[in-house]
Amino acid sequence: MASIFYFLSFILFLPLLFPGNASNCLSGMNLEITQSKTGNWAHGMPEMKVRIINRCDCAVAEVKLNCTGFQTYKTEDASVLSISGDVCLLKNGKSIPTNQPVEFLYAWDPPFPFQPISFKESCN
Ligand SMILES: *[C@@H]1O[C@H](CO)[C@@H](O)[C@H](O)[C@H]1NC(C)=O
Repeated sequence: MASIFYFLSFILFLPLLFPGNASNCLSGMNLEITQSKTGNWAHGMPEMKVRIINRCDCAVAEVKLNCTGFQTYKTEDASVLSISGDVCLLKNGKSIPTNQPVEFLYAWDPPFPFQPISFKESCN
């Protein structure tokens, strides 16, 4: 029994022993993307508020989302969301701290399923 306990705690504390390699940050899991209707309308389309939260232990930068087919009736703020082709870049690639939400609005129906493509983790 005791040896199992020690084995489990060893596994649990492994990331603490190797902090430099402890990248538990996965784009699909640690970037939380939610969206909700604001209640406003733009050109007959419901306005949506997208909220992206970095749930990684470290800051992330150069966050890219898959924007294939993304359309909006509302002009997005290029300092938050810049679109180039099928890829959207968040905050011009700037660093986004842990748990700090990044928000932007768009207007379309149905809602666009934003998916992260890639980002860079920076632990300082
Ligand atoms: C982006 O989404 C489109 C449509 O769902 C898909 O075909 C494409 O493979 C995605 N691109 C990336 C880089 O994930």
